[in-house]
Amino acid sequence: MTANSDALKRAAAAKALEYVTPGMKLGLGTGSTAEAFLELLATKVRGGLSILGVPTSDRTAQRARALGIPLAALDDLAPLDLTVDGADEADRDLSLIKGGGGALLREKIVAASSKRMIVIADEAKLVARLGKFALPVEVLEFGHRSTAARLAASAAFLGYGNVSITLRHRDGGVFKSDSGNVIYDCAFGAITSAQKLAQAFADIAGVVEHGLFVGMASTLLIAHPGEVEVIESGK
Ligand code: A5P
Repeated sequence: MTANSDALKRAAAAKALEYVTPGMKLGLGTGSTAEAFLELLATKVRGGLSILGVPTSDRTAQRARALGIPLAALDDLAPLDLTVDGADEADRDLSLIKGGGGALLREKIVAASSKRMIVIADEAKLVARLGKFALPVEVLEFGHRSTAARLAASAAFLGYGNVSITLRHRDGGVFKSDSGNVIYDCAFGAITSAQKLAQAFADIAGVVEHGLFVGMASTLLIAHPGEVEVIESGK
């Protein structure tokens, strides 16, 4: 991360803090931008702000605890008032690609359990068309290679050619999510209809969840140098 993108992430995170009010039940996202938000939120908590958070990953839980942010289980708090999370890509229709950090499953469950989802990002994440960032798909380990073959067939059926579908590795082994599943990164290049692809991938046996978030975000806060752009959902 460059110093500049670091500053932009903090600017987006600071703007998101303006939406937080006392007593809120908050979904806490995963990733470096979400962590910038955690740090600013922790300062407010130390200053007396009372909120309760639900983390979207073990990493976020650990970070929040270290910062003194009080946490609770999703099922004890839902519905949440607001989730603040980052994204790997976002477009102006507020469709997102998430899961670069491998937390997409819990991120989607927490966002779906929230009345509002605010996405914070630096301007590099705002794209005219999703798909340059490979779409992460969380797959049950059982039979995962056959599930990957169904992903490829589904992409081809939708008219996408040459989608490379790669099993994610980390530290010399196969990457496992917090829920013990594997992830396939699907490089589309350009996604023509996020809605259609989201539906098609959701219908595949063996797919636990995919990283397309369509119709979930209510607000995008995109940090440009000197300004945070607010993009609201048209709905
Ligand atoms: C985590 O699984 C992702 O969905 C993150 O929200 C996404 O990768 C953004 O992370 P950064 O803020 O670190 O770019």
